[in-house]
Amino acid sequence: MQHFAIGLAGMGNVGAGVFKHLTQNRALLRERLGFELDVKKIALRDPKKDRGVAVPPELITTQWQDLLDDPSIQIVVELMGQKEESLRFMLGAIERGKIVVTGNKALLAEHGREIFEAATKHKVPVFFEAAVAGGIPIIKSIREAFIGNHIQSIHGIINGTSNYILTRMVESGLGFAEALVEAQEAGYAEADPTLDVDGWDAAHKAVILASLAYGFWVPTDKIFVEGVEQITANDICFAKKLGYSIKLLGIIKADAKGEIEVRVHPTLIPEKHVLASVNGVFNALAVHGDIVGDTLFYGRGAGQDPTSSSVIADLAEAAAALQAPRSNYGFMPHGLYGTCTPIDDIVSEYYLRLTVEDRPGVIAQVAGILGSLNIGISSIFQPEGDEGAAVPLILVLHKATHGQMNTALEKIGALECVKKTPRMIRVENFA
Ligand code: HSE
Repeated sequence: MQHFAIGLAGMGNVGAGVFKHLTQNRALLRERLGFELDVKKIALRDPKKDRGVAVPPELITTQWQDLLDDPSIQIVVELMGQKEESLRFMLGAIERGKIVVTGNKALLAEHGREIFEAATKHKVPVFFEAAVAGGIPIIKSIREAFIGNHIQSIHGIINGTSNYILTRMVESGLGFAEALVEAQEAGYAEADPTLDVDGWDAAHKAVILASLAYGFWVPTDKIFVEGVEQITANDICFAKKLGYSIKLLGIIKADAKGEIEVRVHPTLIPEKHVLASVNGVFNALAVHGDIVGDTLFYGRGAGQDPTSSSVIADLAEAAAALQAPRSNYGFMPHGLYGTCTPIDDIVSEYYLRLTVEDRPGVIAQVAGILGSLNIGISSIFQPEGDEGAAVPLILVLHKATHGQMNTALEKIGALECVKKTPRMIRVENFA
């Protein structure tokens, strides 16, 4: 039976899971694949650290260079989660003809173009299922299952930590900070949780999905990103009154001209939409292709076991690519798309929460500004308050561009009757 030697760089939560499950499910993998996947070397920083798995000491090195220098290693797994160091390791592996498997979403989002240019030049695949949505096979689905489709849209809950926080705020009335601590303790959050709560972890995943779907590496400065830090219990409550849930959504769309938009932000979605029932750390993606129509993916988007499931699938694919070389190196660039809609031109609907004086004429002033900018109001409510006191005024607005809306927010925020900075959250009605 053929054996493929693997070098594992990084033995954190996911690396330990990969080693554990490759060992535990070895017989199953052998039967299904018809070859053996052998971990030959593991590069890690601290050999003394307890990782909850028994690793034979002879496999361990503290230098990832040893993996590159071992000619018998044909596949390397990059799970160090670093930037420059991981990039050097990956490019070094590609130059030596070693197939790379990685879960490093930040690196792919920022250096995907360079990495895949090197992969194409050296004819070496790079696989990255674990970089997006943990255990959900979304990369393989877009790359292979939907190969014949123009992808018209992807809507994804792709940050488990944010979804966990929002869910706990709804279900248990927890504050933002307490819910974040829970998510960190459960091992869902990134080492630096700012990436989870400021939207950038989801944004990295959205860039990868969009790039794969549209065949060009989407520049991170062409996307719109906002995190969940500003969401309050009041917003959650008012959204519910209007029939909506609040989710951090990655939205990727192509228009009829072939321009694409990529954005990540808290979003009001109809409570009846299937994504509204995705709770806790779970991720979900709704993908619409021109042939397949609507599809839905659901699963755990973070954590040791689901993420290592994806890495193992990539290892199997990497070994299969060694047996039968192919011309798709994990990402096929093409020229059918290539432009991003400027952020100010992106169209959406909006929820607006104002804190205003409760006196006659206030609504007229707000409506006047919106009207002058050609922004329609689809619903409005103002909870009861004492005359003259500050009260919330909630509006849901019809479609407008980001640019129009920013002008409206500036003008409304400058009104004397508006007592606090207006709060705006985008609405997606999937129409
Ligand atoms: N920190 C990420 C999340 C997990 O919360 O979804 C890995 O991407």
